[in-house]
Amino acid sequence: MADLVDVLPTEERIHPNGNLIRELNERSLKDPDGFWHGVADELFWYEKNGPAFEATKEPPYGKWFERWKTNLCVNCLDRHMTNGMKNRVAYYWEGEPGDRRPTPYAELSREVTRFAKVLKDLGVRKGARLTIYMPMIPELPIAMLATVRLGAIHSVIFAGFTAKSISERVNDSKSKLVITADGAYRRGKVIPLKPIVDEALKDTESVEKVLVVKRTANPIEMQEGRDLWYEEVAPQGNVYVEPAKVEGMHPSYILYTSGTTGKPKGATHSTGGYMTWLYFTQQAVFDLKDTDVYWCAADIGWVTGHSYIVYSPLLRGTTSIMYEGTPDYPAADRWWQIIERYGCTILYTSPTAIRMHMKLGEQHAQKHDLSSLRLLGTVGEPINPEAWKWYYKHIGKERTPIVDTWWQTETGGILITPAPGIALVPLKPGSATYPLPGVDADVYMDDGTVARPGEKGYIVIKKPWPGEFMTLWNDKERFDSVYFSRFKGVYYPGDYAMKDEDGYFWLLGRADDVLKVAGHRIGTIELEDALIAHPAVAESAVIGKPDAIKMQVPVAFVILRPGQKPSPQLRQEILNHVRTTIGPIAVPDALYFVEKLPKTRSGKIMRRVVGAVVAEKPVGDVTTLDDETSVEEAKRAYQELKAQIAAGKS
Ligand code: WTA
Repeated sequence: MADLVDVLPTEERIHPNGNLIRELNERSLKDPDGFWHGVADELFWYEKNGPAFEATKEPPYGKWFERWKTNLCVNCLDRHMTNGMKNRVAYYWEGEPGDRRPTPYAELSREVTRFAKVLKDLGVRKGARLTIYMPMIPELPIAMLATVRLGAIHSVIFAGFTAKSISERVNDSKSKLVITADGAYRRGKVIPLKPIVDEALKDTESVEKVLVVKRTANPIEMQEGRDLWYEEVAPQGNVYVEPAKVEGMHPSYILYTSGTTGKPKGATHSTGGYMTWLYFTQQAVFDLKDTDVYWCAADIGWVTGHSYIVYSPLLRGTTSIMYEGTPDYPAADRWWQIIERYGCTILYTSPTAIRMHMKLGEQHAQKHDLSSLRLLGTVGEPINPEAWKWYYKHIGKERTPIVDTWWQTETGGILITPAPGIALVPLKPGSATYPLPGVDADVYMDDGTVARPGEKGYIVIKKPWPGEFMTLWNDKERFDSVYFSRFKGVYYPGDYAMKDEDGYFWLLGRADDVLKVAGHRIGTIELEDALIAHPAVAESAVIGKPDAIKMQVPVAFVILRPGQKPSPQLRQEILNHVRTTIGPIAVPDALYFVEKLPKTRSGKIMRRVVGAVVAEKPVGDVTTLDDETSVEEAKRAYQELKAQIAAGKS
């Protein structure tokens, strides 16, 4: 660790704040029921029967607030109508073209009730599933909150995904209603969304109605009897819609995420535990004050947006910024302009965004007054020390701490992070520091023994925590096998990690066939399936290649069907096919036509060999090979693949 800078250096090996965090962690783990009961008491519940936490024999080995009753929307909005916060701005929303819409809590509450009335009139009831496919406009959180108000379950799909992703998710969740918009703005252009939904619905049977919010006014087709313009059916004036009283374990939403098979996993979150976890972490991590203007610059289509743009800031009555567009449109200083305009105090973003701004140059930030910032955060991928230091120096002006927050779609909220809202520990660029209270994290070696300080192993969470997902929608078996069987009885997140001598955790990236491309999770098998679906493709292998900005980019190897000839046109056609089946974020950075892929005797692709070729690393670096493959065979395969690539280039 000697080469890592301690930004807040301390005399002692473990800072007193580190001890404090660790003591609180121990206390919370000894008495989860008492600890989380105390936190939950600050929220609104219709009923509190029985314990906050009960251990169970089956994964995830615990239940939270099972016999308590609440409503997430009421806690996010109605609660603030009587606690002095109703006139506070909930969102300073800014559209990409420059339109602005500040929404105070009272107005947001009215809008959500209006939306809920429409949903209710369309027959939406407790437990119903709704698919939401929308741009970053206020109606997106409004639709989500209206859904949970009725006790219905939303499945939000990132607006960069395409028709096939939508139909797959609609079919898995059996949604009867889809909420979308006519289009979205992206880099000054209109991206039509409704036509993508129309395409998707050709392959679904459950959907009865499509509710369309107007954003871009591009011409779209409305299917008689199925499609409705939101504004045409929304009630005028004040309405009241009774919230559903739901149990702590009632699902609040499904969020599909990539795994190591072609089928996305429907991570299903609870209501009571999820809400309590977000309420707690938002304060512990961001140390919120009444005067804060907080900006989580993610997209609501991913879990970061669900948890830290929608639910947790609203639970805390925070004032947030919500921005529709891309960071460098119309100019490279757009973000810094937004920070100056609203006096943003907390910025929470991804390492990819930081590296992108780093590449654009600090002169854009220097044009603006960023002195309001007092805390910076990162999420979604490991942050490299260079990007950390750039962020610290040029955005935080060496004044603001950085919270590097480690978590996942499945964990519901942040698990490992500095927690200035409790006590700030000395920071080390690239380390997420210590687990929050409630999080029993450790690092295991391959054989399940505990890693020694400095040894690279796998992160595990040994006890349930309130924000933990409850299951995979329709697939309890996969839930058990993916997350709870790698090491018996503990949650396996699928990340490499290391703990240093100070007990700091270093999260080192995915240990499975899942890529992190610009912070987005993409399964290589999903990509391979999309490639094989092209009629010219016989076989494919996708591997992640290190990238200076996006961390990883997918690289594809393709074996063509007999009679097909490699050509630049065919390459483009296959890449376009990926763009239209999964979405632009998944398009491989390079595609190589090869005649043969290195395989083990049992027919598995030697991914490490392919990876070494792609990363232009010597095969000697390929340390752990399949048992059945000798180093000699791997080297031969490596040379052969390299030769094929070289031949293809000429
Ligand atoms: C990675 C995003 C290192 C990790 C919230 C995890 C991180 C995956 C960090 C989950 C971090 C997230 N440091 N790696 N601070 N935060 N990751 O589900 O590999 O989109 O497993 O959730 O992102 O991605 P997901």
